[in-house]
Amino acid sequence: FSLKPYNTFGVDARAKYFTEVQNLEQLRVAVKYSKDHHLQILFLGGGSNILLTKDFDGLAIKLSLKGISEQDLNENEVLVTAKAGENWHEFVMYSLKKNYGGLENLSLIPGNVGTSPMQNIGAYGTEIKDVFVNCIVLDLENLELKTFNLEDCRFGYRDSIFKQEGKGRYVILEVRFKLTKKNHHIKTEYGAIKTELENLGITLPTIQDVSKAVINIRQGKLPDPKVTGNAGSFFKNPTIPLTQFEDLKLKFENIPGYPNGNVVKVPAGWLIEQCGWKGKQLGNAASHKLQALVIVNATGNATGKEIFDFSTEIINSVKEKFGIELEREVNII
Ligand code: EPU
Repeated sequence: FSLKPYNTFGVDARAKYFTEVQNLEQLRVAVKYSKDHHLQILFLGGGSNILLTKDFDGLAIKLSLKGISEQDLNENEVLVTAKAGENWHEFVMYSLKKNYGGLENLSLIPGNVGTSPMQNIGAYGTEIKDVFVNCIVLDLENLELKTFNLEDCRFGYRDSIFKQEGKGRYVILEVRFKLTKKNHHIKTEYGAIKTELENLGITLPTIQDVSKAVINIRQGKLPDPKVTGNAGSFFKNPTIPLTQFEDLKLKFENIPGYPNGNVVKVPAGWLIEQCGWKGKQLGNAASHKLQALVIVNATGNATGKEIFDFSTEIINSVKEKFGIELEREVNII
């Protein structure tokens, strides 16, 4: 069964078995089947953060649980619940139509609601932990439901318990967010948003304006996976000790960095560009011409292995030039 339509890289890897589940009962049946037949499971959400480097010799389960519901909390806040299979951006658009605030900076992020807590998706000054209340998961060890509150998720930069100790154990079924109904907290500190709002001639932005600005910025430099296969940022932005950053600054005076105590976060896109990779293509894989941090399936025919090897070359050259070890953000299967 080809997984090409189920991963945004558009890699033509195959799964031995495939099923799509619309609700918890179907999911339980599929998981039980795989246990009884000793099959490995690969869960597929939006497919926007995986790289399939080879065929999968087990059961791929596409999570398509749908539905959005809401509950008023008070004058200013509403609790909105979305099932795992809802498309993230459509969910954000739904909230903005209702004039609920909190998700606008996270417009146009690929993927589904169910995978958003995994890596604490974030962009333009917001992370989902800022609006997250809890999520309900299926525990694969005992097939029981469990609730993870904000603290239980241990959110960090592109990180959560679901990528650490909980990896492979829980399937996220639905996520609850606390959004504002009025008195929205407009976040425009991120430089690019400010500039884009100025370009649009907007001085007192609404949440819908912020969303529009974010959409414009993203469309301006990130490749549309429907056109060119990719999984967004391929690497995390590395965090290095302040002392190392100061040493690098002597050699590379333009190196950008965001200090936080005695560590500094350095944009991986800059490091990769400095190594000459931006826009460069090897075989079917390339670094995106407008954002070096994004690896693309340039011809549409790249294999996962080819993309993986390309990323290894980037890691090696950044390591050689800057002494910094880039870490992949995309899940390698
Ligand atoms: N830069 C370069 N060359 C490049 C790309 C970036 O020099 O090819 C420099 C820029 O000039 C800027 C800095 O790097 O000074 C940061 O660039 P940008 O604002 O594009 O953000 P980023 O750090 O590269 C992160 C996220 C993105 C998110 C943006 C905006 C990570 C790994 N990536 O990128 O997330 O949209 O910030 O908040 O943290 C994603 O995860 O798929 C993703 C796109």
